Amino acid sequence: MFQLTYVSKSKSEMNFTDLNNILEVAKTNNSTLNITGCLVYHNSRFVQILEGEEIEVLQLYEKIKADERHQDVTLLWENNAKRYFGEWNMAFHNPNDDDDVKQFVENLILFSDFAEKSSSALLSFWATVRRVLGDGNIRNLESI
Ligand SMILES: Cc1cc2nc3c(=O)[nH]c(=O)nc-3n(C[C@H](O)[C@H](O)[C@H](O)COP(=O)(O)O)c2cc1C
Repeated sequence: MFQLTYVSKSKSEMNFTDLNNILEVAKTNNSTLNITGCLVYHNSRFVQILEGEEIEVLQLYEKIKADERHQDVTLLWENNAKRYFGEWNMAFHNPNDDDDVKQFVENLILFSDFAEKSSSALLSFWATVRRVLGDGNIRNLESI
């Protein structure tokens, strides 16, 4: 099993419909390809971990990299590791929810505290999620 984590910047601020469009397509495609993982969106930053067969993950990553909706796509880590996510997930704040953004951030920080970090890709994924949730500042990504 192969894992890959990258970070990127959305070209414009994504609204609920924009994110839902990605979610719908990704859910269907990834389930066909047996790819699992998690995509987090906050403050115009995407952080994504993809896991599955190496060839499938790399092919999908190439497709995602070419997507016009984001830029500065930067690979943070790739490695062989056990599958961690049972399905494909996406986390973003839905403005139609009653919960406010602060609650969303707090929940995800709490979740990241308990998440397994048994591989370098997972470790770098959750560290980057924390950073993105903090202040959107990823200038120090090299140090992760
Ligand atoms: C940040 C981001 C993450 C994405 N993640 C996935 C993904 O996990 N799986 C996927 O199939 N498409 C994902 N996409 C969409 C792909 O770039 C592409 O539009 C889609 O796979 C095209 O699907 P199609 O070939 O079935 O039309 C993502 C796009 C963005 C901007």
